[in-house]
Amino acid sequence: MKAVVLVGGEGTRLRPLTLSLPKQMLPIVEQPMIERVLGKLAAHGVDEAVLSLGYLPGAFMRAYPSGEAASVRLSYAVEPAPLDTAGAVRFAARHAGVEETFVVVNGDVLTDMDLDALVAFHRARGAEGTISLHPVDDPSRYGVVPTDEQGRVTAFVEKPPPGKEPTHLINAGTYVLEPSVLDRIADDRRVSIERETFPAMVADGTLFALADPAYWLDTGTPEAFLAAHWDVLEGRRADGPPVAGATEVAPACWTLGVPKVGGEVLPPALVADGAVVEAGASVEGAVVGRGCLVAVGARVVRSVLMEGALVGPGASVKGSLVGPGARIGEGSDVRPVSVIGAGATVAARAIVDGARVPS
Ligand code: GDD
Ligand code: MG
Repeated sequence: MKAVVLVGGEGTRLRPLTLSLPKQMLPIVEQPMIERVLGKLAAHGVDEAVLSLGYLPGAFMRAYPSGEAASVRLSYAVEPAPLDTAGAVRFAARHAGVEETFVVVNGDVLTDMDLDALVAFHRARGAEGTISLHPVDDPSRYGVVPTDEQGRVTAFVEKPPPGKEPTHLINAGTYVLEPSVLDRIADDRRVSIERETFPAMVADGTLFALADPAYWLDTGTPEAFLAAHWDVLEGRRADGPPVAGATEVAPACWTLGVPKVGGEVLPPALVADGAVVEAGASVEGAVVGRGCLVAVGARVVRSVLMEGALVGPGASVKGSLVGPGARIGEGSDVRPVSVIGAGATVAARAIVDGARVPS
């Protein structure tokens, strides 16, 4: 089966990290998010994926020059200008020559949902489109999807005002679609699948939905992006090790390759190949990426350090994301939830309090 993976968004809520890398190329515990998404699709029989690209498309092409990732054959559909979600699906599906039932996923969602069950339900109902739903406490950030007893969608309400939601079941960002959906989408302008295509299908009674309580997370905000790491390290995903080759040295404490750990490392944590945690440094709940340095007296708590980041002596980093190659100066204090861009520098003894530091 073919899948369209939507990865063209600019990831504005994760800036400045997403100024140099698209959101789906950012690592979740030392593996690009896109590979985690594709790996799940492969496990459910998807053998070919077309990446629907617009923003920084070269990052994907450079990462997978052979046109394959996570055992899925890749093709790239690069939009000349952002076409929005439905326009992107149409453009990518036409590019890939889709002529049969196909799958669409939002590329920034991590989930263990049962795609086989969704496809079976779609076929049993004779649906034109079927949406996977997930229950959440606050549906106002999502597409909200009430259904009747047969699973026919009765309304599609994108991001309703808080308190006005008809149900707590939200659009989980995985769809099974018939090619006829593509004919509904104009090709000369931006079209939103959530605000235009799905409501039209609701009116025609051809859209169905199936709830799935399995693990689900939209990684679009810094808080959610951090949470994705703890979920992987603490085993809330249906997977084995957090990343291929990782070794569990204590409960929820992992190493990858050969790091040098002189200081204290408390779970959930992963210290990757070539990283150094000096004696007198402490790491409590963190991913210390490949080649990172946590210097003497530094503390890293509930944070992610991407490849080659340096935390200077006596510095404190809490509840924050530190981009690849960033330098956190000696004695500085990085407080939640800060996002430090790739290669950015935080000066010695500076305080960064819930702020964004560009490169
Ligand atoms: N190619 C392309 N072109 N991709 C796009 C475009 C575009 O113009 N706009 C957005 N995308 C991609 C994003 O990269 C992302 O993978 C996906 O489409 C969804 O866009 P987001 O910007 O992340 O939307 P959202 O999270 O606010 O809401 C969507 O996802 C929710 C579930 O996570 C909606 O589908 C909601 O209904 C849904 O509940
Ligand atoms: Mg999203």
